[in-house]
Amino acid sequence: MTDKPAQRTAPELFTWEFATDPYPAYAWLREHSPVHRTTLPSGVEAWLVTRYADAKQALADQRLSKNPAHHDEPAHAKGKTGIPGERKAELMTHLLNIDPPDHTRLRRLVSKAFTPRRVAEFAPRVQELTDQLIDRFATEGEADLIHDFAFPLPIYAICDLLGVPREDQDDFRDWAGMMIRHGGGPRGGVARSVKKMRGYLAELIHRKRNDPGDDLISGLIRASDHGEHLTENEAAAMAFILLFAGFETTVNLIGNGTYALLTHPEQRERLQRSLAPGADEPGLLETGIEELLRYDGPVELATWRFATEPLTVGGQDIAAGDPVLVVLAAADRDPARFDEPDTLDLSRRDNQHLGYGHGIHYCLGAPLARLEGQTALATLLTRLPDLRLAGDPADLRWRGGLIMRGLRTLPVEFTPHQ
Ligand code: HEM
Repeated sequence: MTDKPAQRTAPELFTWEFATDPYPAYAWLREHSPVHRTTLPSGVEAWLVTRYADAKQALADQRLSKNPAHHDEPAHAKGKTGIPGERKAELMTHLLNIDPPDHTRLRRLVSKAFTPRRVAEFAPRVQELTDQLIDRFATEGEADLIHDFAFPLPIYAICDLLGVPREDQDDFRDWAGMMIRHGGGPRGGVARSVKKMRGYLAELIHRKRNDPGDDLISGLIRASDHGEHLTENEAAAMAFILLFAGFETTVNLIGNGTYALLTHPEQRERLQRSLAPGADEPGLLETGIEELLRYDGPVELATWRFATEPLTVGGQDIAAGDPVLVVLAAADRDPARFDEPDTLDLSRRDNQHLGYGHGIHYCLGAPLARLEGQTALATLLTRLPDLRLAGDPADLRWRGGLIMRGLRTLPVEFTPHQ
């Protein structure tokens, strides 16, 4: 095989090949055009930030606002860009679309209800859900791990945590399925699903106000800070963002993570050995999940930011009103930050990846995501020890979404057991 000559022009982004494996394109951008102006599939022009140091700086820079009102897009294009929040629906006034001081107030209030302790107490339920889902296909000898496992687990988990009654959770699964399948902006069936979810959440919050329990929605209603509470609208928007931010991300953590393990047999065997009693590498599950997030995380690009004033990122001038997208997947493979960044090493220690973001919008759900990811992968590998891909990895299809990276299906086989 001859070496290809170094590519001189920017690689084509957002193609099918790119969706399958964006990492060569990101390597090119990091090296040749680290803050890169591009036209997104929606027609919006945006800057892509791909180096780790620039990404970290941009994520924490208060001049980069999360509020889509700062976008300089001509008014006629508003609402067609796929930028969430441009339609100003009340559910869209949530943590990922606002800046301080509103962000500070809402984040403080939600943090009082969505505590690490609440997540830790939820661990047995996550284990139970995981086992129930595996029970459904363990006797079959084959499964689609996205459809049968990675997709339902996070939606049932977050519904339980929020306090959505079990008999209503399949409705949520269907609405969420519609959103994940059709991704992008709120159009057609997706708009109907969002509307149904909004109606349901508003009604549930109303009910919980009169009849509170020990669930997260009741906690959100109860939470107060210096006498301040969430309004019903704010509580509904918060429940919605918890569902929305915590759902597809976790599906893809489990999907991408399992896929990475099945295609790196040495690392997978190492993890499997570490899960056995008396293992010689305890703690590999914890470092391993972080490494899977760094290596092929669910969030390819951090959500939108807009320059509120002219600024410079990585030596590049950015005008006020310009959209900026921080490419977490590229930053987390930056050789200037990580040794052998393209190698999957489950025991990697120096691993301050940006998979959960950085700064004031750092993922609120990281403890829950870790719990779900660790429980899901450990239980799969323990209960189905000879789990393997069914078919050729080259046939797998990735969803070509802008923000998320994940597989459409993940067919596997294993020795069936009762
Ligand atoms: C924010 C990643 C799971 C709730 C974020 C951000 C990232 C991220 C990168 C920052 C986005 C930005 O700065 O533009 C992930 C990943 C997950 C995950 C990789 C799974 C592996 C969850 C879960 C929940 C959640 C399970 C909740 C149930 C949130 C919320 C925010 C957020 C509410 C907004 C925080 C704020 O703006 O203050 N997440 N997330 N996430 N995440 Fe997660």
